[in-house]
Amino acid sequence: MDREHQGKGDYLNDLLNKMKSAASPFRDVLRELHSQYQAVDEGAVATYIPELAKANPDWFGISVVTAEAQSFDVGDSQQLFTMQSISKPFVFGLALEDHGREHVLTKVGVEPTGEAFNSILLDESSNRPFNPMVNAGAIATADLINGRDFPERLERLLKMFGRYCGRDVYIDNAVFLSERATGHRNRAMGHLMLNFGMVSDRVEETLELYFQQCSMLVNSHDLAVMGATLANGGVNPITKTRAIKSELVKDLLASMLSCGMYDYAGEWAYRVGIPAKSGVAGGLLGVIPGKMGIGVFSPRLDSKGNTVRGIKVFQQLSERFGLHIFESGFQGESIGRLLQPERSART
Ligand code: DON
Repeated sequence: MDREHQGKGDYLNDLLNKMKSAASPFRDVLRELHSQYQAVDEGAVATYIPELAKANPDWFGISVVTAEAQSFDVGDSQQLFTMQSISKPFVFGLALEDHGREHVLTKVGVEPTGEAFNSILLDESSNRPFNPMVNAGAIATADLINGRDFPERLERLLKMFGRYCGRDVYIDNAVFLSERATGHRNRAMGHLMLNFGMVSDRVEETLELYFQQCSMLVNSHDLAVMGATLANGGVNPITKTRAIKSELVKDLLASMLSCGMYDYAGEWAYRVGIPAKSGVAGGLLGVIPGKMGIGVFSPRLDSKGNTVRGIKVFQQLSERFGLHIFESGFQGESIGRLLQPERSART
């Protein structure tokens, strides 16, 4: 919504949130983390999609948006990059809205694989891909997106991401073409699933849709807003627009916690304990239910395809503020206090 059409109350709230964020000591925490990890140069930019290799490996943005619509951005938080696999839980959400849980679960499971994101394995007993976060499962999920034809299906995805981000979302055509030109493995998985009746015979169209969803452009601020929308029961806390039915939010978060980091998912759940999703362009989105969304962007990836600096930022935030989902009786620093403007944080 642009300012002209915003109600007076919304405008004042927005202004108040900006003032609160500007004066809150939490900004300094994010600045500290940014300068602490900026020097980390482990990992490498993804090259298997040639267009992704053009990313500057030093880009580094950190953003947090709270369920009360406070925003914190440091570093390259406005730098656009493609969502890649971060799109997967959101498309899963739309498939659930289109068909309901029981039908979706006949086409894709919710079981972690312990395998890489591009694993070609299907569950032998059901022929389903294991979960919606690995490529095979994401292709099966994209196949479920309703629409009369390809443009309508794509338009529905763009609109959905627009609700989460609170702005119109666009596709990076160069990345899309690059991914489509080199996506033989994904194409093979699509056809294998067609053989087993897990996807419909519009599989080529569905692959196009999958390549398009991966090529949608966001920045770390957008990731934080998307995460905050899930943290806020499916309503974008800035625009107040509902992006997904509240009862489905937990489906996305459970799948993100168990499968969002691929073959690092178990260790991630153990060490960090934040439902999260990574993408090979270097994005990482996390959700602290009821509290906030966190977005980090840094294109250097580890061997499992997860952003190296992103993992470090999340580890720090989780440990320092007790953000692990199973944390109880945390005695450390209160993030709630830090979010308050400076004066009240000291009292
Ligand atoms: O299908 C692919 O290979 C990419 N479009 C998405 C993979 C991805 O982001 C894996 N995440 N770490």
